[in-house]
Amino acid sequence: MNTEMPKEFFITTAIDYTNSPPHVGHAYEKVLADVIARYHRLKGEKVFFLTGVDQHGQKVQQSAAKAGIPPAEFVKDITQKFIDLWEKLDVKYDEWAETTSERHKKVVQGILQRLFDAGQIYKDKQAGHYSVRQEQFLTDKERGPDGEFGPEWGEIEFREEENYYFKLGQHKEWLLSYLDNRKDAVIPDFRQTELHNAVEKITGDLCISRPKSRLDWGIELPFDRDFVTYVWFDALTNYISFAGYDPSQSNIKHQTSNFLDKWPALQIIGKDILVPAHGIYWLIMLHAIGFPDDQMPQLLVHGWWNLGGAKMSKSEGNIIDPFVLIDKYGADALRYYLMRDITIGQDADFSEERLVTRYNSDLANSLGNLVSRTLTMAEKYCQRAVHVPEKDVIYRDPGAAYEGPFRRRIEVLAHTYKVSCEGDSTKSSAMDVAIAMMQPVEIAVQCNRFIEEKAPWKLAKHKSPQAATEINAVLYTVAETLRIIAILISPMLPKAADGIFDQLNWRMELSGKEERFSLTDAEWGRLPDGHFVGKPVPLFPRIEMDK
Ligand code: ME8
Ligand code: MG
Repeated sequence: MNTEMPKEFFITTAIDYTNSPPHVGHAYEKVLADVIARYHRLKGEKVFFLTGVDQHGQKVQQSAAKAGIPPAEFVKDITQKFIDLWEKLDVKYDEWAETTSERHKKVVQGILQRLFDAGQIYKDKQAGHYSVRQEQFLTDKERGPDGEFGPEWGEIEFREEENYYFKLGQHKEWLLSYLDNRKDAVIPDFRQTELHNAVEKITGDLCISRPKSRLDWGIELPFDRDFVTYVWFDALTNYISFAGYDPSQSNIKHQTSNFLDKWPALQIIGKDILVPAHGIYWLIMLHAIGFPDDQMPQLLVHGWWNLGGAKMSKSEGNIIDPFVLIDKYGADALRYYLMRDITIGQDADFSEERLVTRYNSDLANSLGNLVSRTLTMAEKYCQRAVHVPEKDVIYRDPGAAYEGPFRRRIEVLAHTYKVSCEGDSTKSSAMDVAIAMMQPVEIAVQCNRFIEEKAPWKLAKHKSPQAATEINAVLYTVAETLRIIAILISPMLPKAADGIFDQLNWRMELSGKEERFSLTDAEWGRLPDGHFVGKPVPLFPRIEMDK
């Protein structure tokens, strides 16, 4: 078992391919990772969130040629679009991976050289049908039902080519036993089953190179400068090269503490790159370079956002541009929708109309409305000063739906949030974090109901000391609830959380900073006696759908 636990929470996503600009599917993966990362920071943990871009390869080379510019220029432009998007979406990472960087190349070449020296990489000749258009060798899998290669492959020729191969097949039994022994290697469960089935079908080794005559936008093989490494060692290794991995040390114990403090990572990827990329190639690569079983990363596999049931694709022209959505509705609205309208692991259909509906019902009507009515009432009934109620106030008119002090209900909800985020030790908590994020919105719904039940505007008509006591108790309770809600939603809706704290006049010196929020503060009664709340500013103005 792993006795040396990492001291930092290490989370990664796939690196996005710089062949085309980001779409809403890319945004989902980063938001999901960002919410989990922010939750761990909220708990006071040191977090290392790594993301970045995948810049080499055939498609980039082709797209750049089409655009008539060098590949380096082409990827710089698209890379900037990803960087701009994460900035706009409040995706806050700790390290940025670019596969064309020198730092990365050194690690990739160091790893390849070591595997070559260990006899894990060999040269071989491949002969067969080759699609000129797709620039790849075709196997029987590519044949249509009629036994022929379809027109999508263009001109087919017979070719012979030498390339380098990694002894993947040799590690098949190891991977099967690893998956048998670790039930949460991949989550959700059905993806682990899918991976296991795929591993059983492994035959043969993995081609890891392309001759430079065919592809030169890549990392040179250190032992043969006529070749570049093709996709797998180039892209997958980013997860360790940008975390401080030293390729010259084959014994993981001799890695720097900088690396060991973080590794292993929780890796968030989409369903299309589990088999074979991450589930087979990546795990076997790590095993082959000396990572023991207890140092394997955990893979969290999410589903895809589709459009009208079909895959989003640039060539089909059905891409949803996240920049447009953020400009229209704000970053928090998009973050909320992407977290709310999908079940982790499953696919979902993207709908702008549903984004607006969710926004209006959950954010504008529940949360936003709760903030504005609370502060409006505080202004009207108690000169914005809320006082800790002396004891559990006995309300004159408890109201039919009211069952015991509201404070207890909030405490229970805040407690379930924490418990659900932690999960239980037998399964990963990552999925639970995303689910638990919805609870604060539920608290807001309950809080609005509480206000309706207590109806301070009716109490105010009595003008008695008892009525004043009750009004104060309601307002303190609601303000305190809002303070707790702001902390709990801060991983998902960082801007709104900040806005609520600003309006509550709370920790103004930390306004805009993440340190403003801490899970230990999500405890009842921290809002001091006589605290002055601020004035209401609309947080989530209602959106009217244009016809
Ligand atoms: O696959 N919905 O890059 P990529 C949800 N560079 N997620 C989606 C999605 C959608 N519609 N479309 C894509 C690559 N994704 C490689 C990975 S990693 C060493 C190499 C997800 O830009 C996709 O599943 O095509 C993947 O996790 C990520 O976005 C990047 O996809
Ligand atoms: Mg892809």
